[in-house]
Amino acid sequence: MDIIVKPNYEEMSKCAAEIIAGFIRSKPDCVLGLATGSTPIGTYRELIRMHKEEGLDFSQVRTFNLDEYLGVGMDLSKPYEQDQSYARFMYEELFKHINIKKENIHIPDGLTKEPKKFCEWYEDEIKKAGGIDLQLLGIGRDGHWAFNEPGSSLASRTRVQALTKQTLDDNYESFYKKAGIKREDMPHFAITMGIGTILEARNILMLANGIKKADVVAKCIEGPVTSQITASAIQLYGGGATVVLDEEAASKLKNLEYYKHVEKMKRDYGF
Ligand code: PGA
Repeated sequence: MDIIVKPNYEEMSKCAAEIIAGFIRSKPDCVLGLATGSTPIGTYRELIRMHKEEGLDFSQVRTFNLDEYLGVGMDLSKPYEQDQSYARFMYEELFKHINIKKENIHIPDGLTKEPKKFCEWYEDEIKKAGGIDLQLLGIGRDGHWAFNEPGSSLASRTRVQALTKQTLDDNYESFYKKAGIKREDMPHFAITMGIGTILEARNILMLANGIKKADVVAKCIEGPVTSQITASAIQLYGGGATVVLDEEAASKLKNLEYYKHVEKMKRDYGF
């Protein structure tokens, strides 16, 4: 696992965008697994800048998003702040600003009438695309990857998941409150890729920033592998996992100085 610590959110976001852009440049039709939430917004802004100023080309890129609230779909008749679908988030924060083709975008359908069938179909589509080259991930304060809440099997597949109080509280504060939507009216279920699905990606890029994430980041990277912190599955991951943190999110890592030393050695000696 490569752990990169940057001084702040902006530098973390630039570093993540550079890694993603590297995949796109070396494989223009790469399959990206994308994430929502407040963490990747800066990364998406930097990718948009690279597209506009440096010609980063998304025309062949294919994407699969991690998750979507159940019962919610993109509704362009509403203002962005009232439409809390992850589809809308992706459209506003990334897709509408770049030259990605609509048919290459995949986001779980929160309005599906047959969630179980849909989840199977989504897994098949990922396989048909040849699997995910790079999966971008945040981490929830309850340790989740996507909406794999505590207790989710580390072998889980795409499915419907009930959300924890912690996740509902956090997403209420970050997104729903400013939309004037009552906490009790938030969706309590989501469709999410499973941990087993995520671990099949050929590369993983996990981001975390801010002091609120420091405890869970330390548990995820240095604590036991446990279904109570589903992101701790990163320790089982056999591909190339890169974790980019800001100083605050990294601040509770016991071996922080060692990780910084390793990162410097890698930069200096190129191994
Ligand atoms: P956040 O969510 O980026 O809004 O903190 C992260 C996550 O839940 O994975």
